[in-house]
Amino acid sequence: MRSIGAATTPIPYKTIDIEGFLMFVLGETVCQPQGVKATILPCRDIDVATLEHHNPSPSVHSFHARRFANQTLGDSTYLVAWRERVPVGRAEIKWDGCADDTVKNAHPGVPEINGLEVFPETLRGNGLGTQLVTAAETEATARGLDRIGLGVAQANPAARRLYERLGYHGTHTYLDRYSCLDSLGTWHHFADACVFLSKPLPRQRSRVAATSLVARLRAALTGARPHGPRHM
Ligand SMILES: CC(C)(COP(=O)(O)OP(=O)(O)OC[C@H]1O[C@@H](n2cnc3c(N)ncnc32)[C@H](O)[C@@H]1OP(=O)(O)O)[C@@H](O)C(=O)NCCC(=O)NCCS
Repeated sequence: MRSIGAATTPIPYKTIDIEGFLMFVLGETVCQPQGVKATILPCRDIDVATLEHHNPSPSVHSFHARRFANQTLGDSTYLVAWRERVPVGRAEIKWDGCADDTVKNAHPGVPEINGLEVFPETLRGNGLGTQLVTAAETEATARGLDRIGLGVAQANPAARRLYERLGYHGTHTYLDRYSCLDSLGTWHHFADACVFLSKPLPRQRSRVAATSLVARLRAALTGARPHGPRHM
């Protein structure tokens, strides 16, 4: 390994967070949540019953089954956070955006992160919600989308603070309406006052440029030859 500048001891590559620095400079989301690390994967059919067991639906209609069905139709991606084979969180990315027409018209083509929850409650505040939001952003970026949004209840300022810290902003208010059927056959209807927040996503081009720059810097520091076409 080459030494840098006047330093007599070689600086180990990993002590310089080149990726983090470049991603920051190039506008990439820099999100290194501390705490509990989860593996986040799209829901599979065999996961639905496990999810229902660990995070029961308030309605007799399983919302995990409904969200998995939406994913099967291509309307959404239902992300599940796993920790040691136990589901600890979930979030649905609705590719056709918010169900509310006023939001959809004002934010055309903007997918919505919906139904974000970390469970059990004792696991909250450990970075899992941040990891789910980041995973959803990565999915949307991979699809070439330039913005993503989410609705947050006005009665949930703690969640709103988290989203604003992650770069989400907005003022569009609307009513989020939904219904639940209980085991006695009674429907319960809800209308939560919400605000829609959105965030620009990094352009794919920046990501490619950053990756290429990182490869060149790594090569310069380690003496390794970067992969890719050679120009003679
Ligand atoms: C909101 C939620 C998904 C965030 O996930 P999380 O894993 O707790 O969040 P992170 O650990 O990544 O970030 C912590 C931040 O989340 C916010 N937060 C919101 N609700 C919280 C809760 N019940 N417990 C802990 N943090 C919460 C806090 O602002 C906290 O920031 P702080 O450290 O400055 O206090 C999770 O707390 C949750 O499931 N809450 C109940 C359901 C809900 O409100 N969903 C949001 C619908 S829009």
